[in-house]
Amino acid sequence: ALVTSRRILQHARENGYAVCAFNVENMEMIQAVVEAAEETASPVIIQTSANTVKYAHMDYYYAMVWAAMKRATVPVALHLDHGDGTELALQAIRAGYTSVMIDASRLPFEENVRQTKAVVDACRPVGVSVEAELGNVGGKPGDPDYGTDGYTKPEEAEEFVRRTGVDSLAVAIGTAHGVYRGEPNLDLKLLRTLRETAGVPLVLHGASGLSEQDVQRCIAHGITKVNYATELRIAFTEAVKEYFTIESDFVDPKKFTGYARDKVKGVAVEKMRVCGSHGKA
Ligand code: G3H
Ligand code: 13P
Ligand code: ZN
Ligand code: NA
Repeated sequence: ALVTSRRILQHARENGYAVCAFNVENMEMIQAVVEAAEETASPVIIQTSANTVKYAHMDYYYAMVWAAMKRATVPVALHLDHGDGTELALQAIRAGYTSVMIDASRLPFEENVRQTKAVVDACRPVGVSVEAELGNVGGKPGDPDYGTDGYTKPEEAEEFVRRTGVDSLAVAIGTAHGVYRGEPNLDLKLLRTLRETAGVPLVLHGASGLSEQDVQRCIAHGITKVNYATELRIAFTEAVKEYFTIESDFVDPKKFTGYARDKVKGVAVEKMRVCGSHGKA
């Protein structure tokens, strides 16, 4: 069933595991993720970034997730990842998404509070969950380098959650989007403090490229939602490239997209194991 991420994250927090949130781009990635969730009995969050919903309207992703859901029994949430304002959040609500992120983390604290609160006010009446971000996760083009300065401050986290009423909080504890160029410098002690001060489920962005041990340490110290985008993109794209080396004399797109779908599913099953969600649905 399509449910809110609030409900999925609550269950995960109470039962000591984390939920994978996978960024998808197309039908095959949606099928791969839902099949992986079904096979492993894992709750899962499917998410599309602001750039992805420019590629195809949210209506397409909602319809494809809905079609996949009809064949599934596990709880699934459909989430807007890194939304940039109230307008996009409202679009997601209208499209049937059950969860949105408002990312105003690059703006000053007061402005982040104001925009997040506006999205919470819009989502509350319709029961859609809201994730916001505090601190600088970084790693995207144009982002400043993440460093000690950008890590989430516990006293700000407490105030932010209290004033916005947000359901979950993305925190900066040393991870970055994309593949890592150096060793990530994770602050697990800070994470533990944030778990206490924030009081809502915490979200780890930039999980692609982290070791299994690092992800599990983050979960043990307070993370409830783990975001994977780049590793699924790599799995899909490398599979397509590989397929053309196996066979080149064909004209049916299903051949390479089907091959890529299988590879993405394999990665999703593995990440769900790392996060401990197998058998939790
Ligand atoms: O954080 C989200 C993922 O890294 C995808 O972002 O679609 O803007 O590249 P993008
Ligand atoms: P990665 O691309 O590093 O997996 O980050 C994903 C993410 O945080 C999506 O919001
Ligand atoms: Zn992110
Ligand atoms: Na990453």
